[in-house]
Amino acid sequence: MAIHFTLNGKPTTLDVNPNMPLLWALRDTLNMTGTKFGCGMALCGACTVHINGEATRSCITLVSSLAGKKVTTIEGLSPDRSHPVQKAWIEIDVPQCGYCQSGQIMSAAALLAKTPHPTDAQIEDAMSGNVCRCGTYNQIRQAIHRAAQLQTGGSKSANGTKDAAPVESAEQTVDVLAGGAE
Ligand code: FES
Ligand code: FES
Repeated sequence: MAIHFTLNGKPTTLDVNPNMPLLWALRDTLNMTGTKFGCGMALCGACTVHINGEATRSCITLVSSLAGKKVTTIEGLSPDRSHPVQKAWIEIDVPQCGYCQSGQIMSAAALLAKTPHPTDAQIEDAMSGNVCRCGTYNQIRQAIHRAAQLQTGGSKSANGTKDAAPVESAEQTVDVLAGGAE
């Protein structure tokens, strides 16, 4: 049975087994590989997307549950990597291997949409389901605070200089932040 929903702002139809997890449909049917497979059991957060604005584990979300809903993936967070979270991630140079980062970014973006200036405790609570084997947790917390500044018009960089250019290593991670890496 065909399921109709909105994916990254576009009307989308999936005609697959309705019991297929959304993660499988994104990666294997729609060829959108920015959302990552980690555990397949809602334990790591690598597969996080937004469904109607809520951070959701796509590995345990069945296609049949999507009818009429709005799904946003890392590819749809912004058209040009201009979302405050993406900008902060580049500025702070958060990713190491990058594998967990699209899920981290989607969880952070959902948090900031509801809580524009989260405390460390609120960040810890919202991000606790997103595992990073490279241990980038301190940079993630720093970047979320920076994104909070950026989304309310802050222009000073995290090190106090105005609109500092991203460092070269951060430039190399930009594809990860926009879902470009497979
Ligand atoms: S792959 Fe979905 S939470 Fe790990
Ligand atoms: S950056 Fe490597 S798993 Fe998080």
